[in-house]
Amino acid sequence: VNIDGKAYRTIWLGADGWSVEIIDQTKLPHELAFATLKTAEDAGRAILTMQVRGAPLIGAMAAYGVCLALRQDGSDEALDQAIATLAKQRPTAVNLRWALEEMRAAVRNLPRDKRLSAAYQRAAEIADADVLTNRAIGVHGAKLIEAMAARKRPGERVNVLTHCNAGWLACVDRGTALSPIYEAYDGGTALHVWVDETRPRNQGASLTAFELGAHGVPYTVIVDNAGGHLMQQGLVDMCIVGADRVAANGDVANKIGTYLKALAAKDNGVPFYVAMPHSTIDWTIAVGKDIPIEERSAEEVLTMSGRSKDGKVVQVEIAAPGSPARNDAFDVTPARLITGLITERGVCQASRDGLRSLYPERG
Ligand code: MRU
Repeated sequence: VNIDGKAYRTIWLGADGWSVEIIDQTKLPHELAFATLKTAEDAGRAILTMQVRGAPLIGAMAAYGVCLALRQDGSDEALDQAIATLAKQRPTAVNLRWALEEMRAAVRNLPRDKRLSAAYQRAAEIADADVLTNRAIGVHGAKLIEAMAARKRPGERVNVLTHCNAGWLACVDRGTALSPIYEAYDGGTALHVWVDETRPRNQGASLTAFELGAHGVPYTVIVDNAGGHLMQQGLVDMCIVGADRVAANGDVANKIGTYLKALAAKDNGVPFYVAMPHSTIDWTIAVGKDIPIEERSAEEVLTMSGRSKDGKVVQVEIAAPGSPARNDAFDVTPARLITGLITERGVCQASRDGLRSLYPERG
């Protein structure tokens, strides 16, 4: 992505050739800050505290975390320990486990003195492949937006609603749900994005708004409860969201609130698409109700952070003092509410047969 004319990925190797640089997403949108990670513990903390977040990006982060662990200790025990610890940091996005198993497979049968370079090579491949995969998702998804644009009257734009952040900040670059939007926009399609703020951490208001703005895509931030109303008013042509894990039957776990948008979309005849790469499909889970759902701290619900008038970023309490809170970070949207899955191999039905038609090797 370009920010103020400079190209960035969300994760890259430092000038020393081994440390890992990231955009620290906890500082956005108020500050474009970077962090240097030097140990597997740094990598685990970056995932847990959401300095890096979004399913594909935490996969890439974990891959580099294994590299950092192997720098410290190249033994089998250290490898197993690092993979187990990194895997525990966030339970819902399956890309984390996928990337860690890719790393294990890349190094486990090598002698200790060959492991480190093989690990860095595989981590770089995972990061590079993510960018290409997301570009392909963009090409397939843009056709859906362009088809919608073809049905519009002259001068009208396509209104796309998205939830959370499934853009380049959630990936190594380009994004999943936002990739079709960038592709269509860059190709000249007139469009506008409704950005759900996405409480409690506001990834929509802070991250999606930031990156759409940086790219020049017209957008409007809306409160999480507005989507249904806008659909009733005919102001939403289609929804595109990302995914943290897709079960083998096409059920989709994504950021809390996705399910309610899918219900509203169904009721209003608005197409509801989920964009995701192959590494987000969990072939070992038959149905969505078996996907583990991360529960995060109550503090995220009870407080909000933002920039005060004097320019300082502050955290404020928003609930009655002493209120209990519950913070399920994801929900499951049943396949029947999903119009289609946009993958790097094309668009398919959200169903076992649909997924198998694109990934016959998993059959
Ligand atoms: O808790 P987060 O910010 O990691 O959640 C991110 C999402 O839910 C995204 O929609 C999902 O990971 C898809 S990212 C391309």
